[in-house]
Amino acid sequence: MDKSSSNHISRRDFVKMMTAAVGGVIGVIIGLPVISYLVSPALRAQEPDTWIRLGLLEEIPIGIPTLFQFNRSIINGWEKTVTSHGVFAIRKDATNILVLSNICTHLGCRVSWHPDIQEYVSPCHDGHFDTVGNVTFGPPPRPLDEYQTKVEEGILYILFPPYKRSNS
Ligand code: FES
Repeated sequence: MDKSSSNHISRRDFVKMMTAAVGGVIGVIIGLPVISYLVSPALRAQEPDTWIRLGLLEEIPIGIPTLFQFNRSIINGWEKTVTSHGVFAIRKDATNILVLSNICTHLGCRVSWHPDIQEYVSPCHDGHFDTVGNVTFGPPPRPLDEYQTKVEEGILYILFPPYKRSNS
């Protein structure tokens, strides 16, 4: 066999190489958006803290936990997720306000206020919390989460998301 014939590529090899090359290009074209979609949540910046308007402070009765609800929208690529949230605002006096999440710290069920026993009760495993969100009974490991608050021109705002409190 002479040197020129050793460098010669057969038609069969050429077709194999072209098929592999075209297949590779198609794989990259299809695979890149999929990889980008899967990886992008990990690279996305964390949602910034946001002040949420609850309502007029003077309309919240003193000493009675009052439920407020609001929605948050998160847009991730083509996907829009809307989540609903609930908070209890407790006005201790004319100026002191405490705002608690209504999410139980055990497994995330929504607590409700029971005025007859003056406690929040989680319906899932009978977890109980007192007026200021401390655990009084059941499996919840820590108090209800609390929101930072501010009042501007008589309007009560909370800083989302809430922060965790430890048992006192
Ligand atoms: S989820 Fe509230 S006690 Fe389990």
